[in-house]
Amino acid sequence: MNGVLFRKLGFIGAGTIAEALITGLIRFAHVDPSSIVASDANRERLISVTSRLGVTAGAGNIDVARQADVLFLAVKPQVMPDVLSELRGAGKPGSITVTLAAGVELSYVEAMLGEDARVMRIMPNTPCSLGAGSIAFCLGKRLDVADVDWLLELFRKMAVVIEIDESLMNSVTALSGSGPGFVYTVIEALADGGVRIGFRKDQALALAAQTVLGAAKMVLETGEHPAKLRDMVTSPGGTTIAGLHAMEKGGVRGALIDAVVAAAERARSLGPTPAKKV
Ligand SMILES: NC(=O)c1ccc[n+]([C@@H]2O[C@H](COP(=O)([O-])OP(=O)(O)OC[C@H]3O[C@@H](n4cnc5c(N)ncnc54)[C@H](OP(=O)(O)O)[C@@H]3O)[C@@H](O)[C@H]2O)c1
Repeated sequence: MNGVLFRKLGFIGAGTIAEALITGLIRFAHVDPSSIVASDANRERLISVTSRLGVTAGAGNIDVARQADVLFLAVKPQVMPDVLSELRGAGKPGSITVTLAAGVELSYVEAMLGEDARVMRIMPNTPCSLGAGSIAFCLGKRLDVADVDWLLELFRKMAVVIEIDESLMNSVTALSGSGPGFVYTVIEALADGGVRIGFRKDQALALAAQTVLGAAKMVLETGEHPAKLRDMVTSPGGTTIAGLHAMEKGGVRGALIDAVVAAAERARSLGPTPAKKV
């Protein structure tokens, strides 16, 4: 697709998730970096990110909004009211606004941007930068799937893409948005276990991370229930059941469920308007 994208992609906010999405779009959807323009309140960070990725640093939010056919709002939920007020009426005619902010509802973004705003809400995660992301989306009242089909095609090059009801957005934020953080903790803990039984930290981390990757691929590519896959590696009186017993005693399952529920509750509390209950 290099050079084939005739639309300009703009990013307001060039932080963690913007960098992950831009990286994924360039590496996996083959979007030409010259099609991407970004702005950020932190000029130093903007220059660092844009020069690293080879994309254009805009003069400011309004400058980016004027150029972008698709405008990603990748700023923290707390600053969305200010950013939306600034952008009202500034977008390119016919453009699509994609909001990423956790807990900020489509109806709020539409009301803030004005009558004509065509808005989509997405919840991506950082593995998009490696072509292994998840992106959940829902559409505002002035968009349908046909309008964004080409954009979804780009997303699919770097992520599993699912359309969901907006009432589930905070749940996605909690599961796949915050999920990488939970899994890093699991990987680190597995690696610590490896160190405890004699591996060097680097060896233990490599084995732990690859094990999580392999297990995830088994779930996704075989389509089997994880419990069935687990049974297949759990022999009577063997090593795996000994470890599983220890995990059950430690409450790992309950802790992970609690983590997802706590993250969803936090996501609900972040937006400027109260989101629907999970
Ligand atoms: N990180 C994730 O994995 C993830 C996943 C899914 C969704 N999201 C959502 O994506 C949004 C961004 O998250 P993030 O983690 O990328 O945050 P981040 O790393 O803090 O990036 C946001 C950037 O926006 C800048 N900014 C602040 N006010 C601005 C303004 N008025 N105009 C332009 N730029 C401004 C910030 O600068 P300062 O630092 O100077 O304030 C910062 O560089 C959040 O709403 C979050 O809910 C994040």
